[in-house]
Amino acid sequence: MPDFKQLSRSVKGLTVLVTGAASGMGRATALVFAAEGANVAVTDLNADATQAVADEIAAVGGSAKAWVLDVAEPQDITKVVGDVARHFGSLDIVINNAGISVRMPIDDEGYDAGWDKALAVMLTAHPRIIRAALPHLRRSKCPRIVNIASTEALGATATVSAYSAAKGGVTSLTRSLAVELGREGITVNCICPGPIRTGITDRISEEHKTIYAKRRTALGRYGDPEEVAHMTLSLCLPAASFLTGAVIPVDGGLMARNA
Ligand code: NAI
Repeated sequence: MPDFKQLSRSVKGLTVLVTGAASGMGRATALVFAAEGANVAVTDLNADATQAVADEIAAVGGSAKAWVLDVAEPQDITKVVGDVARHFGSLDIVINNAGISVRMPIDDEGYDAGWDKALAVMLTAHPRIIRAALPHLRRSKCPRIVNIASTEALGATATVSAYSAAKGGVTSLTRSLAVELGREGITVNCICPGPIRTGITDRISEEHKTIYAKRRTALGRYGDPEEVAHMTLSLCLPAASFLTGAVIPVDGGLMARNA
């Protein structure tokens, strides 16, 4: 057993792979980990946007490299995870963050296609990435997995059933893998963001954001991506050694509030 008082409160030198890192919370997470001295694998769909985040990190002296990764493509996952571990010499932390907005009523014509897409990107991808990363995590002194779900996994909004089902699956997957991998010291936790200013919520007007946040959250405001990234970082510190299987709302008190 390590001396728990001596555990590091820094991710310096650890390697983190972030999916969906070109925008919103993924981008903020990449920047926050890089600022703390981690090597960051910035992965996303679009080559230019992904490279821009890696360049932003390099411009302030951080360690990052960009990879194009569509998390719905199993072969790409195996290749990129292998490349990341080879490039940095390790892979310690996986942040399953990539996501899309899927909004449609249950009787929508395109429901089946929307369901398949939601699950492919926001649920099926997660165990695939974790399985590819596992041999590397098993060699790490600080193996951490953080899955980004949503408060839609804990409560419900009309017309987002496929999105909610995918996110609910992520919370169950988190608990299940936490139990399965716990004896190996690999922690698996899940964050459920509430309303956050990102690409996904871009289309909602400022007026509606304000009305919604005042009515629904305890803090009375939308969150910023960095506020989720800070919590993700906390879960990945070597000193965060006894937290696993947790499903943590980072939602300004949305789930706590009744009236
Ligand atoms: P965002 O739209 O700013 O970022 C999502 C990123 O995921 C984009 O860069 C996009 O290109 C990438 N992406 C989409 N499909 C992908 C795929 N197949 N492979 C790889 N990358 C892909 O949105 P945001 O909000 O930062 O999303 C991050 C996560 O947070 C998502 O899982 C989302 O469901 C979740 N979330 C967001 C909330 C919000 O209020 N913004 C609330 C609750 C959860």
